[in-house]
Amino acid sequence: MPTEVKGRMPSKGASNGWAPDSWRAMPIRQVPTYPDTARLNSVEAQLAKHPPLVFAGEAQRLKAHLAKVAAGKAFLLQGGDCAESFAEFHPNNIRDTFRVLLQMAVVLTFGGATPVVKIGRMAGQFAKPRSADTEVIDGQELPSYRGDIINGFDFTSEARIPDPERMLHAYNQATATLNLLRAFAQGGYADLHKVHQWNLGFVENSPQGNRYSDLAGRLDEALEFMAACGITGNTTPQLRETEFFTSHEALLLPYEEALTRFDETTGQWYDGSAHMLWIGDRTRQLDGAHVEFMRGIANPIGLKCGPTTDPDELIRLIDILNPEDEPGRLTLIVRMGHDKAEDKLPPILRRVLKEGRKVVWSCDPMHGNTIKSSTGYKTRPFDRILAEVSSFMQVCREEGAYPGGVHFEMTGQDVTECTGGAQAITDHALALRYHTACDPRLNASQALELAFQLAAQVKRERNGQPALEQAAE
Ligand code: PEP
Ligand code: CO
Repeated sequence: MPTEVKGRMPSKGASNGWAPDSWRAMPIRQVPTYPDTARLNSVEAQLAKHPPLVFAGEAQRLKAHLAKVAAGKAFLLQGGDCAESFAEFHPNNIRDTFRVLLQMAVVLTFGGATPVVKIGRMAGQFAKPRSADTEVIDGQELPSYRGDIINGFDFTSEARIPDPERMLHAYNQATATLNLLRAFAQGGYADLHKVHQWNLGFVENSPQGNRYSDLAGRLDEALEFMAACGITGNTTPQLRETEFFTSHEALLLPYEEALTRFDETTGQWYDGSAHMLWIGDRTRQLDGAHVEFMRGIANPIGLKCGPTTDPDELIRLIDILNPEDEPGRLTLIVRMGHDKAEDKLPPILRRVLKEGRKVVWSCDPMHGNTIKSSTGYKTRPFDRILAEVSSFMQVCREEGAYPGGVHFEMTGQDVTECTGGAQAITDHALALRYHTACDPRLNASQALELAFQLAAQVKRERNGQPALEQAAE
């Protein structure tokens, strides 16, 4: 790996030996070995001259919102693709994912009576950690697919070679995606007066769609009432536009380093590739490269906590990642599995609470619930996803922590990747529209169903009532 920092000044604002490239001296996992180092260097140098996708002020704003979540005054909704793909890049896909997130946010804001902070797993979620370095099909063994920013999905030895040029392609796609998201969020599409129009074609005539239409009708009435009181989109911009932030796993560190810039106003370094970045469950080693990189950037960050998370080690990680105990800086994204949350979560919660650390507790009910279906597809049963969310809520309540948010994988498309839900997708139906290049995602109907369940639970929690059973309101 090259160690020079192209055109950036590592000494500025660096503390405790941190620099944008200090991760290069640490042991690293999950990062590919590029065969062509000269090309890698050239791509990194080019990226370092490209504009950042987001600005420091925006990342700080998100941090302030997350501080409200940490204080129990808002709810975090983070979702999107498992992995964005070059082949599926299309404005309609971006729009559909965005509008399902908007629908979910409305359901949670209105049904759960809480402000919602919206973050997409979008505009940069291209790199995938893999459990195995290689994949075997029909006796042939090839390097694993690691996401479109690294290598190709096709099962050929050529496609699987890590290609640095893919970082430029990913940067361009992320830029175009973010540009459209900004237009949607601020250009009128997210206007609350348009809630009815966000109901997607295939969901519209489903039980979830009908339920959503009812809620949208009630919202319309509330908006009419407010208009009669003089509160309109003209007087209150929050009614006609929304704030939407981006995030991805900071896995491919050469890419993240190249987009990290010094902010003169704050005197801090920011990773300009997204508003929020997180550390995956496979790369959270105390002395590892990913923790080293993330400790030095000032963006809000997430840390995935799987079933192997040790409470003592977690405190040491928090010491490294959030030494000032700044609220909003750190979101702990727990992903235990539906049958493990009850055992694994309490010791972690208890320890962090005892140490008095200010974190956001978020639940990823996806990554601990992946199984192989009887028809051979990797899937996630919808009832296990709901069960993990319920366990999370219950454990938080018992331990006195605020259940601050959810993190999940979804798409606006009518895919058949997770079994169950109101559409009752069976193991056999998975084959119909199984499009993911990586993990199985909730489709728009399942995502909406999750939001309704969640809203009922959030409301119960706020009213001080147990959210034990999945609310069937
Ligand atoms: C992911 O969020 O896509 C992921 C791989 O999660 P985890 O690191 O929790 O396994
Ligand atoms: Co995933």
